[in-house]
Amino acid sequence: MRIVQVTAFGGPEVLVVDRRPEPVAGAGQVVVGVSAVDVLSLETQLRTGWGAEFFGQSPPYVPGGGVGGRVLSVGEGVDSGWVGRDVITMTGDGGYAERAVVPVEALVPVPDGLGVREATALLQIGPAALSLAGAAEIEPGERVLVTAAAGGLGTLLVQLAHAAGAHVIATARGGRKLGLARELGAGAVVDHSEPGWPERVREAAGGAGVDVVFDGAGGRIGQDAFGIVASGGRFFTYGVPGGSFARIDLEEAGRRGVGVRGMEQVRFAPEEGRRLAGLALAEAAAGRIRPVIGQTFPLDRAAEAHAAIEARDTVGKTLLLV
Ligand SMILES: NC(=O)c1ccc[n+]([C@@H]2O[C@H](COP(=O)([O-])OP(=O)(O)OC[C@H]3O[C@@H](n4cnc5c(N)ncnc54)[C@H](OP(=O)(O)O)[C@@H]3O)[C@@H](O)[C@H]2O)c1
Repeated sequence: MRIVQVTAFGGPEVLVVDRRPEPVAGAGQVVVGVSAVDVLSLETQLRTGWGAEFFGQSPPYVPGGGVGGRVLSVGEGVDSGWVGRDVITMTGDGGYAERAVVPVEALVPVPDGLGVREATALLQIGPAALSLAGAAEIEPGERVLVTAAAGGLGTLLVQLAHAAGAHVIATARGGRKLGLARELGAGAVVDHSEPGWPERVREAAGGAGVDVVFDGAGGRIGQDAFGIVASGGRFFTYGVPGGSFARIDLEEAGRRGVGVRGMEQVRFAPEEGRRLAGLALAEAAAGRIRPVIGQTFPLDRAAEAHAAIEARDTVGKTLLLV
């Protein structure tokens, strides 16, 4: 089978196609014929060597934490009724490949009415978005700021906050991304690459700041976003595309009565991750959330997918297709 591996830390060119033997399902496992691979912006950062001491990956390795496809075969002790079913599954790593071998417990069935690609697009951002939106306990009429709003996670958070009755203010870079955020329910959009953007968000919020921030951008954007939270508001920091999490002065947060929550909102035990993924798929099948697949690339061109994410040229989710 074909795989794509990171051959050394570096630019997108270190992603190289190679071959591995066809995998066989062991006891309790299944082989999934992968049709879509979820590509995370985090994977582009890890490929450069960023965060290596924390995440512990060193080349050569096959990236990819989640895939969707059809069960091709099952190992000993697994119900053969799984064969032929469309599923999504976390893989740990090794997802940039034509096949994935996972324990049967890891499978999340794709419900009727939803495509495997759409389901794969929701595999990782769906649980994160549902968890963040749930923790924010958004009340109708509250002002909610979503940074990096046209990214994978941002596109879902805009929809969930809008559905909760919030006045959603979305920030992103450039007209195409801002247009998408509007389409998904943002009542106001602001370009966070332009000077003075925090002031424009404040104006869009009626001058008093926002009640909730979902910061998917991190870095300087996240730090500036923290300055716009009204007293008693909630600030969620989980994004690192800006190079780091938003650096928050917790003493200042305390003085302003701003609750700061972080990665605990988007890290799950496997069982909870599957429960939330199933919920996200059900919401999408019922038409209550719309996964936005902005761009797809053939597996062999994973390097181009990474380059597009790094150039900030992508909207919504990026998938590799097999
Ligand atoms: N399950 C998940 O997917 C999950 C879970 C936990 C945490 N996260 C984290 O949440 C963040 C957002 O995830 P995502 O899936 O929405 O990512 P994404 O689709 O790649 O979107 C990230 C966006 O960040 C913005 N950005 C701001 N500053 C940037 C910079 N200096 N370089 C590159 N991009 C920059 C870009 O939008 P503009 O061009 O509009 O600025 C980009 O589109 C990531 O840090 C991710 O690791 C994701």
